[in-house]
Amino acid sequence: PELNGDGAEILMKSYACQRRTPLKHHNAFLTEALEILAQNAEFNDNEGRSVAFRRAASVLKALPHRVKSMEDLRCLPCLGDHSQRVIKEILEDGSSREVESTRQSEQFQAMKALTGVFGVGVRTADRWIREGLRTPDDLIRTGQQLNRAQQAGVQYYSELQRAVTRAEAELIMAIVEAAVNSVLPGCQIQLMGGFRRGKEVGHDVDFLITHPEEGKEEGLMSKIISWLEEQGVLLYQKTTRNSYVERLDGPARSASNMDRFERCFSIFKLHSSASRSGSASTSESGSACDSGCRAVRVDLVVSPFSQFAFATLGWTGSKLFERELRRWAGQEKQMTLSSHTLYDSKQNLYLRAQTEEEIFAHLGLEFIPPSERNA
Ligand code: CTP
Ligand code: MN
Ligand code: MN
Ligand code: MN
Repeated sequence: PELNGDGAEILMKSYACQRRTPLKHHNAFLTEALEILAQNAEFNDNEGRSVAFRRAASVLKALPHRVKSMEDLRCLPCLGDHSQRVIKEILEDGSSREVESTRQSEQFQAMKALTGVFGVGVRTADRWIREGLRTPDDLIRTGQQLNRAQQAGVQYYSELQRAVTRAEAELIMAIVEAAVNSVLPGCQIQLMGGFRRGKEVGHDVDFLITHPEEGKEEGLMSKIISWLEEQGVLLYQKTTRNSYVERLDGPARSASNMDRFERCFSIFKLHSSASRSGSASTSESGSACDSGCRAVRVDLVVSPFSQFAFATLGWTGSKLFERELRRWAGQEKQMTLSSHTLYDSKQNLYLRAQTEEEIFAHLGLEFIPPSERNA
């Protein structure tokens, strides 16, 4: 087996949810390259290939040392021929021709630019590219039909491209707390996603909200949104209502992994001066974003208390860690995990949990804290 620098044995488990993956690791020079190929596969609608590259990258993130030779990769799981070829070339030549030509290709750059617009997915971006469009500017210039989300995405494009800092996340947390507390006292509000995993910056800020009295959370989102709208905080919002029903015979086989919580995808308006000094300013109303204003993507999710642990696990990420948890549950345990519940198909029953620790225990997994879920 693989030895690390101290001669200790590394036993690399094959599911990312069985491993600790810190935020900072030793192999960014390899993982960034593999993730370019993963992203390109996504752009080509090839999910299998994309996940294969992401799994390979994730294994390297969990290594306690920098990869220096192909010998270091012996006995590691999830490294397919293609990934190994790419790694070998980078170790020998400093870069991979496939990765560099992908990175520079017009198709890849246009897909990156267009899917970088809030509200634009791979299918839409691909159609626009076939029509000769390349950048968000092209969308405006040619007067493309845009839905409401895409209009906001184009309007706030450069703002939304800027990374959200932890200071900005804290500021938004204070605004969300003020909103929630004023419409329903006694709620619990949790910072989710990348910031819960310890990231210093993110592409958005994610929140999970619940109330310890089950049922109190019903209809909460629209009240929160009204409060935020009155304060002039929202540049854009789209709320979806809760559509989850627990079936006695187990979860329905659904094509999508999307959860069914009451949720809101939004764009908050912060004042740049406020986001520097750390004080929330919510006095102005209206939906313009002037030069002294900062636009930030915010996701709000409301969960019933009985599903809170599952929602917490499901909204902490990383996306690969979540995917691996569900794969582990299905393939190794004959269970179905979602952000709502865990269902055991052998016993035909739902396994309840109050905490993330209990869910890991139900799944027969060692508990991995959020800061080590950066798979
Ligand atoms: N998520 C989800 N359903 C969605 C969007 C996101 O369940 N429609 C979950 C993802 O699985 C992830 C978490 O919400 O666990 C956060 O997603 P996201 O904000 O996209 O990613 P982050 O990990 O927070 O990274 P970033 O810093 O880029 O925001
Ligand atoms: Mn291949
Ligand atoms: Mn996020
Ligand atoms: Mn998000």
